[in-house]
Amino acid sequence: MKAIVHVDKNWGIGRGNSLMFRLPADMKFFKDTTTGNTVVMGANTLRSFPGGRPLKDRLNIVLSSTLNEVPGALVAKDENELFKFIVEKSEGEVYVIGGARVYELLLPYCDSVLVTKVDAVGDADAFFPDLDRLKNFVCQSQSPVQLTNGYNISFCTYVNRNVKPLP
Ligand SMILES: NC(=O)c1ccc[n+]([C@@H]2O[C@H](COP(=O)([O-])OP(=O)(O)OC[C@H]3O[C@@H](n4cnc5c(N)ncnc54)[C@H](OP(=O)(O)O)[C@@H]3O)[C@@H](O)[C@H]2O)c1
Repeated sequence: MKAIVHVDKNWGIGRGNSLMFRLPADMKFFKDTTTGNTVVMGANTLRSFPGGRPLKDRLNIVLSSTLNEVPGALVAKDENELFKFIVEKSEGEVYVIGGARVYELLLPYCDSVLVTKVDAVGDADAFFPDLDRLKNFVCQSQSPVQLTNGYNISFCTYVNRNVKPLP
C-alpha cells in the first residue's frame, strides 16, 4: 500500500475541506498513477470531490462510520472492514489518497509515500505527518523542480523502512 499526497512547505494538505492549490501537473501525476488501481479515502475527502462522487476508473474505498451507501464505491465502516476489503477486493496497487485522518491512520502500513512538494505556504488546517521528522521514512528520490500554474513543485518518493503488515 502507498500514500499519495501534495504538501505545502509546512506539510499542509488542505483548508476548509478543499485543496489549497490548483496544480495541473500534479493532478495529471495523480490520475496517471492511480487510474486502474484502488484508492482509499475518508468521508471528508469524498465530500471534497466534484459532486461528492468517487473517482472514475479506479476502485474507490471510502472509510466512514456514518455513510451507508455510496454509488460507485465500497464503504468500510471501520479499519477492520477496510483491511478486509483491501485483502479481498482491491485491484492493482492500493493508494491512500487522504485526507489527514486517513493518512495518519494508514501511514504505518504504507511501504512508500509519493509526496508532491509545493514551494508555497497555503494557510492549511489539515496536515500530513512531517516525514522528515519520522525516522522510519527516508527520501529516496526527488524530481527536478517544475512550474505548474505558477507554483514550483517536485515529486518525491519516501520509503518506509519499518512497514507494518496489514492485520
Ligand atoms: N493535499 C492532498 O493531497 C490532499 C488529499 C486528500 C485530501 N486532502 C485534504 O484533506 C482534508 C480532509 O482531511 P480530514 O482529515 O478532514 O478528512 P478525511 O480523512 O478525508 O475523512 C475523515 C473521515 O473519515 C472517516 N474515518 C476516518 N477514520 C475512520 C475510521 N477509523 N473508521 C471509520 N471512519 C473513519 C470519518 O468519517 P465519518 O464521520 O463518516 O465516520 C472521518 O470523519 C481536506 O482539506 C482535503 O482537501 C488533501
